[in-house]
Amino acid sequence: MSRSYQIAVIPGDGTGPEVIAEGMKTIMAVAQREEINLAFTTYDIGGERYLRTGEVLPESVLEEIRRHDAIYLGAIGHPDVKPGILEKGILLRLRFELDQYINLRPVRLYPGVDCPIKGKGPNEIDYCCIRENSGGLYAGIGGRTRPGTADEVAVQSMVYTYRQVERCLRYAFEYARTHGKKARGRGDRNTLAMVGKSNVLNHMYELWGRLFDSIGEEYPDVTREYYHVDATCLYMVASPEIFDVIVTENMFGDIITDLAAITQGGLGVAAGGNINPEGVSMFEPIGGTAPAWTGKNAINPIAAICAGMMMLEHLGERRAAARIEQGVITTIQKHMRSMEAGKMGLTTSEVGDRVAEYASL
Ligand code: IPM
Ligand code: MN
Repeated sequence: MSRSYQIAVIPGDGTGPEVIAEGMKTIMAVAQREEINLAFTTYDIGGERYLRTGEVLPESVLEEIRRHDAIYLGAIGHPDVKPGILEKGILLRLRFELDQYINLRPVRLYPGVDCPIKGKGPNEIDYCCIRENSGGLYAGIGGRTRPGTADEVAVQSMVYTYRQVERCLRYAFEYARTHGKKARGRGDRNTLAMVGKSNVLNHMYELWGRLFDSIGEEYPDVTREYYHVDATCLYMVASPEIFDVIVTENMFGDIITDLAAITQGGLGVAAGGNINPEGVSMFEPIGGTAPAWTGKNAINPIAAICAGMMMLEHLGERRAAARIEQGVITTIQKHMRSMEAGKMGLTTSEVGDRVAEYASL
């Protein structure tokens, strides 16, 4: 019986369309090899449309996107649009409307990729960040009074409900049980580290900490650890091998995953999934639009290709996902000089060609 999926594609702005094209090339190659039927619907959403028509994310488009099995997103952002309009109006709106409450960001250094940390390699950089994706400072709770005066007050609050924390932690424990280092044959235990700031944000971490311990009781096979977020940054550079699965709130997760990305070779490589385990999830390279590289056929599509791999894995197509991963590893090892745009030794489309070829072997 053949499996069929409807994928909504949002190539977006800048180099988004170029990297998404290579991702689709790879996905289509493995889909054919594994006899998976994929139907893609492309949506013209992003800065160009906004500048042309004033529309950010029309209601009708959102309703259509909702009816897909997954979303494949390039990058959103435009140098001529005021910061915030597109990020909030498209990316964050999709995350919130579709209740994609998990942001899953694997941190793996592939063999052959230069690591900026001396003495660290693929064995040391092999963990995953689970970022809460629906609340915290991103909830938009706050306001300002008396703007422009010396008495001006600005408030932006970190907000979490019990339900938000609970569902995130449950997902994290399940993930650590099924994808931790022991589960993957890479270590002798599965560890979930909660990252926070309990020494200052005491109200917040009373809630997170209590649920971490009580839910953790149900997972005796997952070792619990806790790190403050500042110390986490230090360890991510000094001893990344201590990490397995990390779970953290939205803003801390945003910050530490950029640091994590550079340790795995940078934004040319790092991919993530915005996941609603019961709904429609969205997969994206975590780098931005890289406007300076637009149209040069020089941007690295590996991150977008890896986002496609995560999407197939999420849809339950593990063999197809494993093929892409193998294609990526072989392409990097055999052909790529660097993960940086313009220095790869291959063009954007040549990277896609190679990965698609090796993934279909
Ligand atoms: C990310 C990005 C977004 C975020 C921005 C573009 C709103 O930095 O996906 O990490 O802060 O979540
Ligand atoms: Mn970010």
